[in-house]
Amino acid sequence: MPVVTIQPSGNTVSAAAGSSILAALLQAGEKIPHKCDGKAECGSCHIFVQEGRKSISKIQRAENEKLDAIVGVGSKSRLACQAILGEEDVTVEVPVI
Ligand code: FES
Repeated sequence: MPVVTIQPSGNTVSAAAGSSILAALLQAGEKIPHKCDGKAECGSCHIFVQEGRKSISKIQRAENEKLDAIVGVGSKSRLACQAILGEEDVTVEVPVI
């Protein structure tokens, strides 16, 4: 099971491969917004994947379009609800709002 390390809290959580990063963050007790409940419509679950990007799912069109509409995105940006964990550990940064 991949381990998700969460910044800036420093929390870690083991999550099943095939589950979303959003699910892992919620499992870890992080207070990450997810207003559309994982439909790639709200953009509120924006995170930065600092390490392990190659092991998570590729960005699909709906996610890409939503990221284009969010202020403050960068090359490491993902929507946590759309990023599916692979077998490798990842480190993510939850923007402080
Ligand atoms: S929860 Fe709305 S885009 Fe991820």
